[in-house]
Amino acid sequence: MTDILCIVGARPNFMKIAPVMKAFVAAGISAKLVHTGQHYDAAMNDQFFADLGIPHPDINLEVGSGSHAVQTAEIMRRFEPVLLAEQPAAILVVGDVNSTIACALVASKLGVAVVHVEAGLRSYDRAMPEEINRVLTDQISDLLFITEKDAAHNLAREGIDAQRVHFVGNVMIDTLHHNLAHAVPASTTLGSTADYGVLTLHRPSNVDDRDTLAGLLETVAMLAADLPIAFPLHPRTRASIERHGLQAWLEKPGIRVLPPLGYLEMLGLMKDARIVLTDSGGIQEETTALGVPCLTLRENTERPATVDEGTNTIVGTERKKILAAAEDILNGGGKAGRIPEYWDGRAAVRIAAILLQWLDGRHHAVA
Ligand code: UD1
Repeated sequence: MTDILCIVGARPNFMKIAPVMKAFVAAGISAKLVHTGQHYDAAMNDQFFADLGIPHPDINLEVGSGSHAVQTAEIMRRFEPVLLAEQPAAILVVGDVNSTIACALVASKLGVAVVHVEAGLRSYDRAMPEEINRVLTDQISDLLFITEKDAAHNLAREGIDAQRVHFVGNVMIDTLHHNLAHAVPASTTLGSTADYGVLTLHRPSNVDDRDTLAGLLETVAMLAADLPIAFPLHPRTRASIERHGLQAWLEKPGIRVLPPLGYLEMLGLMKDARIVLTDSGGIQEETTALGVPCLTLRENTERPATVDEGTNTIVGTERKKILAAAEDILNGGGKAGRIPEYWDGRAAVRIAAILLQWLDGRHHAVA
């Protein structure tokens, strides 16, 4: 019998599940991997499995893209028979994507325990689709593993029993530690040894609206006049740039457009960057772990440890603020930052130890 059915769906899930599955093998926990197929392009999917050495999924639901409702519903419809057939003791979901809430909801309705890795993060911005996914997933989770201490307060405020919550650290940083020595050098990716910055953009709030996107691209073009900016393009962002006819901004001097990168290429690129500008959640954490200055192009973050302790600064999307913060960093200012507690490469081992005990307790209860 399978103890735990692990779920992945989208790119940021892959680096979270890799160390967890490895720790399960070491702990003797039997696990299977279900891929919902939310992300499917080779660059968004296969490359990560190869880079991270994740086992081939046992089951792929192949849902693909769609509106939130269609994608979520389709994952639920296809996951239910899988869960009924597999009968695991629990499912384990990571992060905050549509696959996370869809599978958690199916399991909770079937009375199967839900384990949520990276629980309790809150931006307090309900316009963010991920915030809805986080709040709802946590409400129906039986075991909640948190990456930073603040998350415990968020969960307490929502009435979640503290006994279910475990502070274990950050599995994404486990993956970073494990792979740092294998990172692809930036000079290989960029074909140059000159200084550079990195930009990633994919949040609907930044890339879907024409004026917001055009404003950001113009700001980046101003920055790129002084420091070349590498810009790996998420498919959502590429589609939006084309839809709004903004391609000319990508040809401005100093802007270096790249396809979505594999994990090891992106790690190498971030590691030696002078500055990283992003709206990603994971990159805020990775830059903090690497000690690289990060400017977050959002009004809030659900990962306050990266700001309070790490190298992250929230700058929003206002041009003056972004350029001033970037100038400060490039002139040697910016934050030094320290590594948050338990971001030490051992989070997945802690999770496995707690789950082993939980499974044991369950076996005794059944016997
Ligand atoms: C999803 C997650 C987001 C995460 C991001 C990382 C949700 C609600 N959002 O956003 O939290 O930060 O992944 O990438 O789950 N597409 C492709 N190829 C693919 C996948 C998507 O071309 O392999 C295109 C499609 O046009 C699709 C669009 O990207 O409609 C958006 O994909 P989707 O999975 O809905 O959301 P993301 O923006 O990727």
